[in-house]
Parts: sequence; C-alpha cells; structure tokens
Amino acid sequence: MKTTVLVTGATGHVGRRVAEILLESGIAVRAVGRDGARLRPLVERGALACVGDQTDTAFLTAQLRGADAAFVMVPPDYAAADLRASYRRHGASLAQALTAAATPFAVTLSSVGAERSEGTGPILGLHDLEELLNGIAGLAAVHLRAAYFMENQLFNVGTIQNAGINGGTISGEVPIPMVATGDIAVVAATLLRDRRAASKSHRYVLGPRDLTLREATRSLGNAIGRPDLQYVEFPEDGARQAMLGMGLSPDVVERFLEMNRALSSGWITVVGGRTPESTTPTTFESFAREVLAPAFG
Ligand SMILES: NC(=O)c1ccc[n+]([C@@H]2O[C@H](COP(=O)([O-])OP(=O)(O)OC[C@H]3O[C@@H](n4cnc5c(N)ncnc54)[C@H](OP(=O)(O)O)[C@@H]3O)[C@@H](O)[C@H]2O)c1
Repeated sequence: MKTTVLVTGATGHVGRRVAEILLESGIAVRAVGRDGARLRPLVERGALACVGDQTDTAFLTAQLRGADAAFVMVPPDYAAADLRASYRRHGASLAQALTAAATPFAVTLSSVGAERSEGTGPILGLHDLEELLNGIAGLAAVHLRAAYFMENQLFNVGTIQNAGINGGTISGEVPIPMVATGDIAVVAATLLRDRRAASKSHRYVLGPRDLTLREATRSLGNAIGRPDLQYVEFPEDGARQAMLGMGLSPDVVERFLEMNRALSSGWITVVGGRTPESTTPTTFESFAREVLAPAFG
C-alpha cells in the first residue's frame, strides 16, 4: 500500500514544498489548510485536500487516521493577543490528534533556540510544541530546528523600495545561520519518506554558512542592481511603532523584539555548532537572485 503523509501548513513556505516533494516521490499526501482554493495546485498534483482549521482536534484526528506520518507545523498568528498561547492551542490540538489517531511518525517544524525555556520570543511556542510531542509515548518525532528563514527578507521589500535601505533590530554584525525554506522541505520530506530517524530527536537545518545581515544585504543589493544598499540597525522604539502600524498585536511585537535581541546576543545559538549534516546547500546569493529579486518587480 502507498505510504500516506499528512502535511499541515500545506499552503505555507515549508509545507507546500514538503507536499510537492512527497508527491514527486510517489507518496500519498493529505494537504491541510483552511482554503480549498489555495490547496488546489497541490490537488492538481495528486494531493487530497483536507480543508479545515487545525485547532479543530476532531477534524485533524479524522484526517490523520491511517496516515503513516505527519509534517507538523504551527502557523504564526501575527494578531494573537498572546502568541505563546496561540502556539500552545495549535500544539495541543496537534498532539491530541496524533495521539488519538496513533500516528507513528512526525517531523516537526521547530527552530534554532527551541531548547530554551525563556527569552526567545516566538520560539518559546516551538519549545512548547517539541515538549508536547515528546510526551506522546507511541510517536517517533524528529524536530527540525531550522535557522532564520532567508524568506524573512521578503518582509523588507517595501522598506527597501520606499526608504532605499534594508534594516531591522537584529545586529548587522553578528553572523547567524540563514536557511532557504526549500532546504528545510528537502530534509523534512526525506525524513518522512524514510521514517528511520531516532525518536524524540532534533536535527538542525542551517543553510550553507552563518552570515551577518550586512553581508546578506550586500548580496541582496547586488541581486537587485543596488550594490550600495545598506543594512541599518533600527532602534527598538521605531521598529515597535512600525510593526504595530502594520497590524501586529502588541504581544507579537514584543516577542519579535525579544527574539531579535536574543539573535544579536547569542542567546539563540546552535548547540554543539554546525555539522555537515546540518549544513544545507542554498546560498543567500542564489536565493537573493532567484527569490528576492523577482519580488522587486
Ligand atoms: N521565519 C523564521 O525565520 C522561522 C525560523 C524557524 C522556525 N519558524 C517557524 O516556522 C513556522 C512557519 O512556517 P512557514 O513560514 O512555512 O508558514 P507560513 O508560510 O506562515 O504558512 C502558514 C501555514 O499555516 C496554515 N494555517 C494558518 N492557520 C491555520 C489554521 N488555523 N488551521 C490550519 N492551517 C492554518 C496556512 O494555510 P491557510 O492560510 O491556507 O489556511 C499556511 O499553509 C512557524 O511555526 C515559525 O515559528 C520560522
């Protein structure tokens, strides 16, 4: 019988690509999302659309029954009054459904810093998610501790176009690992296909090397024909007002500022350092050319 994998966040950055790779490998995919129209491109490639809200445990349990494995992610809700509680609501629903359906294997989208129980902002939600899944006796779970997504730079397209600078509250001087979400999807899909990884383990997914936001901005500038593009460290107060103005809730804004401080100070770090296994191929230079530059129209 064909292997079946349930993919949450199947219209998102990582989940969509996980679903595509699994379908290309001949695996049956149940693709979860709230909007059937957004899932249609995956259905056209052979996926089964599972339209619903993943905080609805009965819905999730029904979709999981008979599946061999699941790709588990929690969507960030930028309007949440309490971001950690929002992650916990999703995590609890996922954990209850995995338990009820007796799903044997899961790959979790987690983050560098998830071992910490304080001071990491949104990543605390992923710390909680790992703990919830680790509590399920019959489940073999691998938590992918992903680096800072290269896709995060897409949020800055407007600033670059309007103000002629790139910027944020993360230090421009501190090298951090950055990964393309497509690289995370390759690792996730491989684990889901093979289902041989050690239970209750984690695996870092870090991109090819650590780089500073100044270096990343130089590559981005070169890719869009603005080689003088600068990265400017924004004061927290200005960034806070800008994020509130974009509709992020006060709690979400404070969590992101906390995470950026932790990235700058080294509180969020790769325990044990980079290894060949945690190093993935897509460079920031190629990502800037192929993904970021087209976003500038
Ligand atoms: N950004 C980073 O640097 C970074 C680094 C490490 C880890 N992470 C973690 O990665 C995760 C985000 O991954 P991503 O960027 O791939 O996600 P994304 O692109 O933001 O996509 C979110 C997905 O969740 C689905 N979704 C949202 N609410 C839902 C609900 N109530 N029920 C069912 N589906 C729902 C969305 O589908 P519909 O809208 O179509 O329903 C979409 O498919 C977060 O947990 C984040 O903390 C991020």
